[in-house]
Order: sequence, then C-alpha cells, then structure tokens
Amino acid sequence: MKKVIINGIVVTASDTYQADVCIENGVITQIGSKLSTEGAEVIDAKGNYLFPGGIDPHTHLDMPFGGTVTKDDFETGTIAAAFGGTTTVIDFCLTSKGKSLQSAIDTWHAKSKDKAVIDYGFHLQIVEGSDEVLSELPKVIENEGITSFKVFMAYKNVFQADDETLFKTLLAGKELGALVMVHAENGDVIDYLVKKALAEGNTDPIYHALTRPPEAEGEATGRAATLTALAGSQLYVVHVSCAEAARKIAEARSNGVDIWGETCPQYLVLDQSYLEKPDFEGAKYVWSPPLREKWNQEVLWNALKSGTLQTIGSDQCSFDFDGQKTLGKEDFSLIPNGGPIIEDRVSILFSEGVKKGKITLNQFVDLTSTRAAKLFGLYPKKGTIAVGADADIVIFDPNVERVISAELHHMAVDYNAFEGKQVVGEPVTVLSRGEFVILDKQFVGKAGAGQYLKRAKYGEEKVTEEVGSVVS
Ligand code: URP
Ligand code: ZN
Ligand code: ZN
Ligand code: ZN
Repeated sequence: MKKVIINGIVVTASDTYQADVCIENGVITQIGSKLSTEGAEVIDAKGNYLFPGGIDPHTHLDMPFGGTVTKDDFETGTIAAAFGGTTTVIDFCLTSKGKSLQSAIDTWHAKSKDKAVIDYGFHLQIVEGSDEVLSELPKVIENEGITSFKVFMAYKNVFQADDETLFKTLLAGKELGALVMVHAENGDVIDYLVKKALAEGNTDPIYHALTRPPEAEGEATGRAATLTALAGSQLYVVHVSCAEAARKIAEARSNGVDIWGETCPQYLVLDQSYLEKPDFEGAKYVWSPPLREKWNQEVLWNALKSGTLQTIGSDQCSFDFDGQKTLGKEDFSLIPNGGPIIEDRVSILFSEGVKKGKITLNQFVDLTSTRAAKLFGLYPKKGTIAVGADADIVIFDPNVERVISAELHHMAVDYNAFEGKQVVGEPVTVLSRGEFVILDKQFVGKAGAGQYLKRAKYGEEKVTEEVGSVVS
C-alpha cells in the first residue's frame, strides 16, 4: 500500500528541508510539499527528522570467536539494529585456510537467511593469498556481489594474514574493483607483549590495553597505507581508535592515497580507564584495538569533523559478561574481544556529536549512512532519501531524553557498554523498503524480511530508475 509521511524534516548528507515523502512498492516515489494522500496510509512524523536508514558497515553476528560464539545472531542483532535506526548491516564473513571462499559464504547465507529483519550484505575475509583463493575472487564479486575484502593484520595464529597476503589482496582489489579493509594492529608485536605480560603474572583486563599500544595500531595503519600506495589500490581502515592511526590516515590522504577510515562509538565516548573497573568488570570493555587514553577522543571527533575519518561502524561483537567474558578471568588474553554497540551506534553519534556541536546534522547522516553506502556499492539505492531510493527511513525524535541500559536494550547480552548514559534523541518509527520494522518504538518486523544485498564494485555508482517525480 502507498504510504505518505507528512510533517517530517528530511535530512540527507547535504540538505535539511521540510517535505512529505511518498512511498510505493518499497521505493520513494515523490518528495515534496503537500503531496496527495489519496488512497495512502498517512504517517504523521510530528515534526521529527526523517533520516535515511543507518548503514552499519561493521558487524559480527553469529560469529565464532575465542572458543565461543557471539550472543547476537542475525535475528536479535538486526532487531536491535532496527530499534537503533539502522536498516542495513554489512557483516564479516569469516573464511578458513584451505577451504573455498564459496563454502564460507554459504555458511554466512545459512546464518542470515530467514533471520535478518533488515537488509544485509557481507564483506569477505581473506586469510591467505593462495592461487586458489585469488582465482575465486572474480566469481565472488560476480555471483555474490561481495565487493569488499577484509584482511586482519592482528590476532596471530587465529585470523592474522601476512603482508604478502595483504599486498596480493590489494592488487586484486585494484584489478577487480573491490575495497580492501584492514584491522590494523601489529599482531606479531602484540603477541610478544601478551606472552611477556602473562609470564610476569599480569593477568587483569587492563593488560589487554597495555599489551596493544597505540604505536602497534599506528605502525600497522601506516604499513597498510604504504602497501596500498604501492599497489595503486584502495583501503578502508576499520575501527580506528587512536591519534597515531588517524594521523597515518591523514598523512596518506594528503599524499593522494585512496584510503578511508572508520571509527566506532566506543572509542568516542569510553576510555582505557574502563578496563580497570573492579570485580573483573573491565572485561566488558575489552575491544581490539583497545579503548585508549581519553585525550584521543577529541582527536577522533576532529578527524570525523574534518573528513580524515568518514564512517561509524558498531563493530558489533557481543558476548555476555557471565559465562563468556568470564572465560578470561584468570588470563586477559582469553577474554572474547568485542561488545554490544549495534543498537546505540546512531543515537550515540547524534547525542554526543550533533547535540554537543561536534559535527553537523548533515555530517551525522553522512557518517552513519550515506558514506558507507557510497564506499560499499549500495548508493543511491541505500544511504539517502531521494526519489528512486529504497524507502529505508528513520523517523527520529531529536529531543527525547533517555538513559541507556541493558534492561531496556534489545541486544541478547547481559550488559550494555553505555549503561547509565544519558542521551538525547531516539528513533520512533523505522521503515525498511517501505515496510514498518519499528512502529512507535515497537518491533513489528519479521525474521527473514531482510534481503541479501549484492553490491556494486568500488567506485561504481548505479543510476536509479526514475520511478516518480520531485514535486515542489
Ligand atoms: O574487539 C573486537 N574488535 N572484536 C571484533 C573483531 C574485530 O577485530 O573486529
Ligand atoms: Zn549466494
Ligand atoms: Zn577488528
Ligand atoms: Zn570487527
């Protein structure tokens, strides 16, 4: 059925204006003032903002890690995402040495199909640069529409790939039109520091941060940037946590390297001191890269404002405190890395960024949606409010005040990293391709309604079909 959203303020990465939005067959068909509502379901936005649905370019749903599996799967994770104003996630498909890429992709399809309540795509991990793996890549792009490859420079003996693999992946990315992503930390140095700390009897969560110094992230970021320049390729650095790494990205960009950077809400509002919380509670705040000294936050906000960093990922990778984080009670290196952020990603950026004057409203939309759509081959179907785009729309109340807590969140874990934090702003209603997923803060979506997204190649923007007209 045709829907018309009235009394909303449309916000895109470039503009803010009052307009009605008409939706037909899941697509935005008209934007303008006083659109006809004849035969339409009318949605009164009551003066709230209309944002393009958030795009979370960095999630780990139903992911095995550290001898356990993340609590949130494609169902609970995407429901929580939707509550938070996100309508698309791009999840990391993990691969194994000696196994075909297609078998890993099939595993990820099995995890997500019939579960996701919003649309989703996959990035593909490259763990080895063998001839078999490299020869499979053209098919992966063609058949699966997977146009971003991820290389881990850390997690020695688990996910870590060597520089040869990274370089070959960069060359393949250039040739095939894929964006290469890196987790940039020097895994060899970290492995040495972890073993040394444990041998000295230092087992508490804080040693997770102390054995992964910012220099290890800066070094790996700089190395990846240099290899990208050498390959003439393109790079996206995930979860940038510190000044050292941001500086390397800024330097490479000023030298003309095609490099992009993402940071995450946790690095913008939490800091290293959280790992020192008593009673092992510091384990809740174990991420790689780790939370940093507080002064880094200002550097990251400025990097977002100035364009050195361009996207916000959640790095959703949720584990219960009880029974999962506690696996590392006697040894910090056994604490599963990661946290539950998918639901609060958009709100934190709005409340801490827009409301506190650190970024503009339009920058907020770019950071939480539009830029990711452009980088990962989804624009302009996703990432904007425009005629011809999918009707992924968030009606967002910018004034409501609330306190974040695990009691109220929709993620499947027993804690929230932002527990007790006061924020301003909340999604009220969320539509995915024109269908309500969240209606007046209630979940009304359906498991399996989310569609798998085949994405365009890097730098290749698709033109939407004209399906309506802009009415003024
Ligand atoms: O601590 C983190 N970031 N866990 C998820 C895996 C990764 O490195 O992104
Ligand atoms: Zn498939
Ligand atoms: Zn990572
Ligand atoms: Zn991650």
